[in-house]
Amino acid sequence: MARAKKIGPAKIVPEAEALKQAVRVLGKGQPVAIPTETVYGLAADATDGEAVARIYETKGRPAFNPLIIHVASPEMAEELAHFDEVSRHLAFAFWPGPLTMVLPAKKGSPVSALATAGLETVAIRLPRGFARDLIAAFGKPIAAPSANSSGRISPTTAEAVAADLGDRIPLIVDGGPARVGVESTILSLDGRDIRLLRPGGLTVEDIRAAIGVAPSMPGAPGGKVEAPGQLASHYAPAARMRLDAASVRPGEALLGFGPRRARGVKAAKAVLNLSQKGDLREAAKNLFAHLAALDAERPDRIVVEPVPEHGLGLAINDRLRRAAAPRP
Ligand code: TXA
Ligand code: MG
Repeated sequence: MARAKKIGPAKIVPEAEALKQAVRVLGKGQPVAIPTETVYGLAADATDGEAVARIYETKGRPAFNPLIIHVASPEMAEELAHFDEVSRHLAFAFWPGPLTMVLPAKKGSPVSALATAGLETVAIRLPRGFARDLIAAFGKPIAAPSANSSGRISPTTAEAVAADLGDRIPLIVDGGPARVGVESTILSLDGRDIRLLRPGGLTVEDIRAAIGVAPSMPGAPGGKVEAPGQLASHYAPAARMRLDAASVRPGEALLGFGPRRARGVKAAKAVLNLSQKGDLREAAKNLFAHLAALDAERPDRIVVEPVPEHGLGLAINDRLRRAAAPRP
């Protein structure tokens, strides 16, 4: 795909001062990087096909991979998709928050077909904080993938966005480090099944507590890929990775979890801990920034200690497995 013409370097503006400027940039059909509670997003007017095309161009993202449509209210969401009892209940329980629901799209929805990749479903999320305020002020839904070049690590700070896309976009809104640190949980609800398409910042345990059943997990390792963006190799650092490591060799960098270190840690090229006290929330928040920081040391490999497979550990392990998957 052709590279976007040079419209940067981006101005980085603190969120407290950025609302009007961000509305203006969106109104011109240009993308703006914004903080959300999960990761930073690259936002554009979801109803403007050209604006959406600029997102794909800026990220180098394949156009068959649809975008999440972000809304400011449940009312705005209902204009775009058919909700049923369960999806309404989930929206009530978890919005604003790190939940995306893939629902049947409404006929006559103003969302550009490019944003949904021509599918009959639409992925919708109501984010917290600046993102929600921006959409309310703009008055239209925005399409927003994570604000990174396609296939790279999702950014959790404005600086990380600037390092990757800074010369391709006009404005980055700085809201500080993202509070959740991994992308939203994606559920598909078609009126029959509730399926987990991507584990994320909302835990399966919380979903189960709210609706009485756990979603089925077609996206689990070995399962069928349903979200077109869930390609096996994704979130890739430059370094190769080794997971579930009990030891580390000289020249390798160690990404730890919990109080006890892998063998050989003294000889490691660099060491960072996702959470010294073994807290999965803290680990999720640190995940992408720590991966990027270790990668910057140019180690032979990034080796990762085991992370438990429950709660936010599902999302963390999902991202780690993708980062470690064979590259295309
Ligand atoms: O936390 C998040 O979700 C962040 C912030 C910015 O909101 N966004 C994000 O977007 O992670 P992105 O584009 O990196 O991931 C969206 C995923 C992709 O895997 C895409 O294939 C899937 O959602 N998706 C979007 N629309 C879909 C649909 N109609 N059916 C199935 N999957 C869909
Ligand atoms: Mg992404």
